Amino acid sequence: MNKNKSKKNNQKENNSGSSTINWFPGHMAKTKRKIKEILPLIDAVAEVVDARIPISSRNPDLNELIENKPHIILLNKCDMADNNITKEWIEHYRKNGISAIALDCKSGKGINQFKTTVKEALAYKLEAYREKGMVGKPLRIMVVGIPNVGKSSFINKISGKTRAKAENRPGVTRGNQWFTIDKQLELLDTPGVLWPKFEDQTVGEHLAFTGAIKDRILDTEYLAVKLLEILSENYRNLLENRFGELDFSVDSYELLCQIGKKRGMVIRGGETDTERAANMIMEEYRNQKLGNISLERVEKDA
Ligand code: G4P
Repeated sequence: MNKNKSKKNNQKENNSGSSTINWFPGHMAKTKRKIKEILPLIDAVAEVVDARIPISSRNPDLNELIENKPHIILLNKCDMADNNITKEWIEHYRKNGISAIALDCKSGKGINQFKTTVKEALAYKLEAYREKGMVGKPLRIMVVGIPNVGKSSFINKISGKTRAKAENRPGVTRGNQWFTIDKQLELLDTPGVLWPKFEDQTVGEHLAFTGAIKDRILDTEYLAVKLLEILSENYRNLLENRFGELDFSVDSYELLCQIGKKRGMVIRGGETDTERAANMIMEEYRNQKLGNISLERVEKDA
C-alpha cells in the first residue's frame, strides 16, 4: 500500500481537534506474530530511531517482543539532532548493555560504524561459527523502526551498489526481504509495520514536531506553542540567534506573539498573526533553520 495513503488512513482528527490515530490492532498483531516467527533465525535486532526523539520514535512493545536478542540502536537523523545530547543517549544505552551509534542516512555518516558495531557486538557468535567450522555463515540482523525514522534510507544506504536481495532460504519465511551487505552480514527488513505509542499525547506531539505525523492532525498553533515550551527551556540561544532578543519571562503563547511581531506578522490592531507565526516556526524548525535540536533528553537518573 502507498505509504502516505496508509498514514492518512490511520490518522484522523476528532471533534475536539485533538489527535486520534486509528491504527489497526489486527495489523500490529500480525507484525508481532511475524517478528516472533523470525526471531530464532536472526542474531540481533537493529532498531532505527529518530535521534531527536529517541523515546517517542520507538515501538512500545519492541523490548518485550525481541526477548533477549542482542539489540543495537541506530540514532538516525543525527544531522538534525543536538550532538551532545546524541552522545548522552549513546552513553545511556551503553550503560544499559545496548550498543548504539549515531547515523545520518542522508550523507551516510556512521554507516561503516554499523558494520563494525554489529561484528563487535556479535564477536562471540562469529567465534563460535569459526570453532564449529561454519566459516562463511553470515550474521543476520533484523532492522526495525516505526514509519518515517529512516529505516528504508538506512537499508538503501548500507546496501549501496552491492545491494542484493538474497534468495529465500530453508526455514526462512518466503517473502521476507533479506539484503546481503557483505559476506558476514545480512539484513532483514521488518516483516510488517511497527507503530509508535500513539495513545500517549506527548509521543504524538513529538512525532508531529518532527513531521512524522502530519500537521493537520494537531492544530499548528498548539504545536508551535508546545515546541516553544521545549525550545525556551533548552535552546534559548538558538531562538535568539534566529529571531533576535526575546523576553523569556512570558509564557510560550506570548513568546509566539513576540516572535511573530519580530517577523512583521501583524494583523489589524497590531496583534500578531499567530497562525502565520506558528506555521513559520514549525517550518523553520523542521527545515533546521533554528539549528541542531534534540527534543528528548536522557533523564538525569536514568
Ligand atoms: P522509513 O522507511 O522509516 O519510513 O523512512 P524513510 O527512509 O522513508 O525516511 C523518511 C524521511 O526521512 C525521508 O524524507 C528521508 O529522506 C529522511 N531521512 C532518512 N534518514 C535521514 C537522515 O539521517 N537525516 C535526514 N536529515 N533525513 C533523513 P522525505 O522528506 O520523506 O523524503 P526525501 O527527502 O528523501 O524525498
